[in-house]
Amino acid sequence: MDYKIADLSLAPGGRAKMDWAWRSMPVLNALKARYAALQPLKGVKLSACLHLEAKTACLLRTFKELGAEVRAAGSNPLSTQDDICAALVDTGVSVFSRHAMSGEEYRRYLRDTLAFGPSVIVDDGADLVATVLSDMKELIPAVKGASEETTSGVKRLKAMERQGILPFAVISVNDAHSKYLFDNRYGTGQSVWDGFMRTTNILVAGKTVVIAGYGWCGRGAAMRARALGARVIVTELDPHRAFEAVMDGNELMTMAQAAPLGDIFLTFTGNTHVIRAEHFQLMKDNAIMGNAGHFDVEINKHELAALAVKHELARANIETFTLPDGRRLNLLGEGRLVNLACGDGHPIEIMDLSFALQLESALYVNEHGRALEAGLMDVPEEIDAAVMETKLASMGLSLERMTDEQRAYMADWRED
Ligand code: NAI
Repeated sequence: MDYKIADLSLAPGGRAKMDWAWRSMPVLNALKARYAALQPLKGVKLSACLHLEAKTACLLRTFKELGAEVRAAGSNPLSTQDDICAALVDTGVSVFSRHAMSGEEYRRYLRDTLAFGPSVIVDDGADLVATVLSDMKELIPAVKGASEETTSGVKRLKAMERQGILPFAVISVNDAHSKYLFDNRYGTGQSVWDGFMRTTNILVAGKTVVIAGYGWCGRGAAMRARALGARVIVTELDPHRAFEAVMDGNELMTMAQAAPLGDIFLTFTGNTHVIRAEHFQLMKDNAIMGNAGHFDVEINKHELAALAVKHELARANIETFTLPDGRRLNLLGEGRLVNLACGDGHPIEIMDLSFALQLESALYVNEHGRALEAGLMDVPEEIDAAVMETKLASMGLSLERMTDEQRAYMADWRED
């Protein structure tokens, strides 16, 4: 089996992390139990590009246990955990990744992950699909379809769809109710603060926190910041989301207005250079910045480096840039996803839902293949609802069911 990882001897530590995660993944456990005997992915070549930590490893192992031949790349150099890569290789998954790999290695590993000609692609950020379309077009005929995990990946795929170059169906797992209502809001909301606190050891209560972007992720992080006792300022482009932020109890400002006030700055926009030189010039000494958007472009770290007279590693994952006037500005995790670069990513139970959707989507794509219309598609509603119901059942919770009288009443009402 082909693989390229840092150190296979790290496998026991990685396996222990995976076993711990697996205990809190009731939905994926239930799906595995349902499909194990059927082996629905038998003989299927599946390429995945995911953050290689314990929870994604459980998904990859499940693909393998349901019969697939699996190759995996890490979707971010800093989120790849070397012990997890080793544990995956140990369970028979071909992994091509290592922590802190260079950009050139990253791209090479994407190609290695695709080299065996997959029929199913599982993406997080659309890098695999983009690589197939740009560098490995010869693989296109064998690909039945793909699924995409995150908002920024979906944006890239929409651009490909608009250009008319997406040759197969890609299921937008991100847009399923079971995903964005929980993963982006509660998952990012908690894990960003987990990554922040364990990396900085700084008290959040009493601090002024600036949240850029009040989408699903920003809302969750703002909600948790308020609960931790922070004063929260939000910056937004969209008037409705901006007003929603105000109605939720946050203050609304432009980044230029917020820059001199913030102790902690976190970006959640999916946009570029949201915090840049003009803002660095206004910030307080020792302000801390982190990004939770998918790409490391939201904080302009090149401008920050250019402004600085001194650059040092203050502590693992905290870079301090000293400006000519002596102010020190801190950047977490090189401006990459702070919850993954500085922590373990989303809580396990949240990823259980997203990965149940990923598993069902991979099965769906494998079953229907090119019969599906090329382009982005939603997770089929019945899959989305079934995942949520499995989750509720795992918690011992039941849904209300309509009585016959209610069904008749609602049907009458609909006809009116
Ligand atoms: P979203 O589209 O719901 O929200 C983004 C918000 O940012 C929008 O309301 C938009 O108007 C606003 N925005 C855009 N440019 C801005 C600017 N210059 N200043 C202020 N606001 C601006 O997206 P969502 O789902 O909240 O995701 C945001 C980012 O987080 C994406 O890159 C996504 O891929 C990523 N993500 C990260 C996760 C993590 O684990 N860290 C998990 C899920 C998503």
